[in-house]
Amino acid sequence: MLRPNEKYEPTDWSETMKFLSGTLPEITINSEPEMSSTQTVAKDAARNGRPRWSVYVTDFQSAGRGRRDRSWQSVPGRDLTFSVILRPDVEAKYAQLLGLVASLSVSRTIRRISRDIADEVSIKWPNDVLIGGRKVCGIICEISGRDAAIDYAVLGIGVNVNRTLDELPRLDSPDRPNATSLLVESGRRFGLPSLLGGILTELSGMSGLITTDENRRLFIAEYEPNCGTIGKRVKIVTDDGGFEGTASGITRDGALIVRNEAEERVFYVGDVVHARL
Ligand code: BTN
Repeated sequence: MLRPNEKYEPTDWSETMKFLSGTLPEITINSEPEMSSTQTVAKDAARNGRPRWSVYVTDFQSAGRGRRDRSWQSVPGRDLTFSVILRPDVEAKYAQLLGLVASLSVSRTIRRISRDIADEVSIKWPNDVLIGGRKVCGIICEISGRDAAIDYAVLGIGVNVNRTLDELPRLDSPDRPNATSLLVESGRRFGLPSLLGGILTELSGMSGLITTDENRRLFIAEYEPNCGTIGKRVKIVTDDGGFEGTASGITRDGALIVRNEAEERVFYVGDVVHARL
């Protein structure tokens, strides 16, 4: 991994505002060359009352966080790492849907800016975005609520953008990277400020989609065909163990339904392993 004292061109995040073209008047972009984790910074800000659509973005995270207490590594100046505060008017039991909404927003943005690879883009439940089966984007969603209502939600999004093949992690085998980047898949470099603007635009258009029963039904109807997990043989790994079966659908509150010969189970958390057929 590059360290921030190695050379890279610092990103001019004020450029992002140009790409929002008035769609999100409330948005503020808060950037620093380095942050411990945009997620930690954004959560502190949310706790201190910062309004919705406050975005925290950096070129380098010294302590990036992933789901389930893992770390998140990115390459400074090449990858997109940001968090955004939301204050949705929705019951806390539907909070899981926010991560799903974010994954659909990122998928749509990637398809729009890179049509040549559009057919390869899919979502792995709950909210990993894959290209050709490899992870290009990870999303974390953390909420705080009172009396079943959400006080704030912080969505953290990390996209591997202009990373070269050599810079991708190879955790399982030296020959096969576990992840991918937009550059590796499309052969083109992408501007980070415009990508951020594109994702925020999609996100703002979709954020109302989870506020009523009817909207949630419509949202799930759009999410399911984009989710490559549905219909697949999967293993779900949770802190309590593993369960194998076929993923058959998503509940109205964003959980994954998995069936096998013996039973049907509903999962709210867990790592999904797609069986290779
Ligand atoms: C995962 O797939 O495990 C989720 C990864 C989320 C990473 C992003 S990068 C921006 C934000 N800041 C963090 O520390 N984490 C999220």
